[in-house]
Amino acid sequence: MISSSRTPNTLRRVVILGVGGTIAASAASATQTHDYKLTGTLDTVLKQVPQLSEIANISSEQVANVASHEIDNAVLLRLARRVNEHLADPTVNGVVVTHGTDTLEETAYFLHLVVKSGKPVVVTGAMRPSSALSADGPLNLYNAVRVAISEDASGMGVLVVLDERVVSARDVMKSHTSATDAFRASDSVELGALSGGKVRFAAFPLRKHTCSTSFDLTAVETFPQVDIVYGYQNAGTHFFSAAIEAGARGIVFAATGNGSLSEAAKAGALLAREHGVAVVRSSRVAAGAVSECADDARYDTIAADTLNPPKARILLMLGLAHAMDTAALRRAFGIY
Ligand code: SIN
Repeated sequence: MISSSRTPNTLRRVVILGVGGTIAASAASATQTHDYKLTGTLDTVLKQVPQLSEIANISSEQVANVASHEIDNAVLLRLARRVNEHLADPTVNGVVVTHGTDTLEETAYFLHLVVKSGKPVVVTGAMRPSSALSADGPLNLYNAVRVAISEDASGMGVLVVLDERVVSARDVMKSHTSATDAFRASDSVELGALSGGKVRFAAFPLRKHTCSTSFDLTAVETFPQVDIVYGYQNAGTHFFSAAIEAGARGIVFAATGNGSLSEAAKAGALLAREHGVAVVRSSRVAAGAVSECADDARYDTIAADTLNPPKARILLMLGLAHAMDTAALRRAFGIY
């Protein structure tokens, strides 16, 4: 736990929660930007950005310290609970989460749906380890706190800040394996940008989030298993069968194009529905919506709208945990 020593009473209070990721990682040399290890903690990251104490009254907590491809539902639940607990404290003005970038969009969207506060929540990370030449983590964290102390960020749901861009958690997508500008809105709808230490917002998210969703984690202990099945040429139904046999309660089909179902996928969807497993049609294409179509009535599937497969999985998992039937799930995919 660290606290700012500079005029804390005049500054807004931001809690930074560490989850791990490249922002806390290092490599053997400054030119090595791959094949690094998670060697540090949130405290190590904070020491690299002493300027934070000039703009906010910072306190911090390590909620987990893992690479983000290791994050499971238990970590998601713990993180969401800590975010909600901190935001319920009237002295806290906002929360920042430092997170690995690989699954950042999943955690950010999960928080976007379950946080019960209008205060700013900002998720950030780094594409380069802390030891790298031009490491991006320190400025990303500084900018994330800048957004978290901005009154304009209230009521916008969870925001993702990397590379001086502000993107809604609902629309953000990691779109490059290594570039520092990897985080973009899937349909180029960015909410704002930072430059010269100033945040400039240009848009407001219209989909329901945070306090206006029907999701409440108070009584949730675990989530139903939801798997993603990928669509490709010559695919069979065996991944649908395997997911059903492994106990999935929901399947997101990462379909080709506008959510097209091959004959094998149609058979897989019918098999899933016979077993009471919900099936969502998303797309493996990076942008655009999957529209409702006649196949949804024939195969009892649900169109994912503009949610990509990992985020459709998060919404389906939450919907099933809240006992939503197909009609309620269809509504949820239309409004969240
Ligand atoms: C991770 O997601 O934890 C590793 C990759 C990254 O943070 O950029």
